[in-house]
This record gives sequence, C-alpha cells and structure tokens, in this order.
Amino acid sequence: MNNDENRQQLVRAHNVRKVFEPGEQGVRSGSFSINSGTSTAIVGPSGSGKTTLMTLLGLLEKPDSGELTLFGSDSKSLTLTEATKIRRHELGFIFQAFHLIQHLNVSENVMLGLHPAETGQSDRKQRVTDQLMALGLETHANAFPKTLSGGQQQRVAIARALVRRPKLLLCDEPTGNLDSTNGEIVIQALLNSVSNDSAVVIVTHDEDLAARCSHRIRVKDGIATGDSL
Ligand SMILES: Nc1ncnc2c1ncn2[C@@H]1O[C@H](COP(=O)(O)OP(=O)(O)OP(=O)(O)O)[C@@H](O)[C@H]1O
Ligand SMILES: [Mg+2]
Repeated sequence: MNNDENRQQLVRAHNVRKVFEPGEQGVRSGSFSINSGTSTAIVGPSGSGKTTLMTLLGLLEKPDSGELTLFGSDSKSLTLTEATKIRRHELGFIFQAFHLIQHLNVSENVMLGLHPAETGQSDRKQRVTDQLMALGLETHANAFPKTLSGGQQQRVAIARALVRRPKLLLCDEPTGNLDSTNGEIVIQALLNSVSNDSAVVIVTHDEDLAARCSHRIRVKDGIATGDSL
C-alpha cells in the first residue's frame, strides 16, 4: 500500500487507561494511532495488557480515562446501540477460540460473516468461494467443523472474519495454535486483506510476524506505545 492520500486515521489513542480492579494492571496508558492501509502488530510479554487493549479497540470495554477515537467517534461517548453498529459494520474479530457453528458446513459458517441485507445472493456465494480459496479450504467447503483439524477450523474462523471486509480487523494471537504451514497461510491472508480503507491489528508473540507488519505497538507493564506512522 503506498497510496498515502487515501489513508484515514481509524484509531487514535491518547493516554488510554483501563484498569479492572485496583492493584490489577490492565492497560495503564496507551498512546498510538492506526491508519487505514496498515498492519499493526501488538507485542509484549504475557500479562502486559495486549488482550485488554483489544477489548478497548473492539468496543467491548470503555476506557476509564484518556481518549480513544474509533472511526472519528469518541469511544466513551458512544451509546450501546452506536457501539453495536460499529462492531457489526466496521470491526472484525479473530480470537483463539473458533466459535464455529457445528451443524453448518464450512461454506455456511463463512457465509455467516456476511450481512444478508448488504450483498446479493450470487455475490455472497462468490465472496465465500474466493475467501475459501485464499485460505486453502476450497476442498472442504461442504465439510462440517467436527471433521476438520484444529488448524483447518481456525482457518474457517478467519475466512468468516475476512469475508465481510471489516475496516478494522482485530486478531488476538491468530496463529497461536497453528503449525508453521497453516500459520503462514493465515498470516498471508491477514496481511493481504489490508486495503486502502482497512487495517489489521495482530496480537502476537512472534517477532518475525511483528517485523512483517508495517507498524508495531509495544506493550510493557500496561504501557502501550505505538511507533510513528
Ligand atoms: N477482566 C479482568 N478483570 C481483572 N483483571 C484483568 C481482566 N482482564 C485482564 N486483567 C489483568 O490485566 C493484566 C493484563 O491482562 P491481558 O489479558 O491484557 O494480558 P496479555 O498481554 O493479553 O497476556 P497474554 O499474552 O498472556 O495473553 C493482567 O494482569 C490481568 O490479570
Ligand atoms: Mg492475551
């Protein structure tokens, strides 16, 4: 991506704080920006606050203090309805648990990622097929989740998140359970999903993956600092 004029600031965090209980660390202070057209790795030791940061970016929690702006809206002033709308239309999530629907096959699980009202039937099918291809799942389109390996199920969950083309895709250790071949397929799909008006954020312990992202947020003892954009 080198089309700088078309980039938008998707996230701006300034001294964002989220501490669940006194004495617990959470995120003590986070300051960074995320622009469209970028991939950002969130790296730091276990317990440093990476997942807590993701819950703030995913509008699952509100900051205690500081400023967190998502798509131009201050996260603290969003109503529940507004936050839900942003989560549904602009955000995508990939967590380590797959949450696949067991009685639906692979294609049907991926199709759940699309909004019925927004896409016509034939376009929906094409998008699902393209996404399955991108993740090497095309021969499993009609398979049911329980017949797939853990790595294949993880790729279905990733296909379901990517197929809706979220503006901001939040991934918490998406390759944590995968062998190197499956991990590489997933990393390429995530990095390739970035467009001029979208961005991906990946929590990872893998410094090689962090180096392949265009930007990094380093978290230590609850302090999250982004590198310059
Ligand atoms: N819901 C919660 N209630 C209380 N404390 C919490 C909660 N969530 C996180 N914390 C605390 O915040 C700190 C950071 O946790 P977090 O899950 O964000 O770490 P992490 O960087 O994602 O670690 P890991 O790499 O092990 O996943 C921890 O000390 C944890 O105990
Ligand atoms: Mg975590």
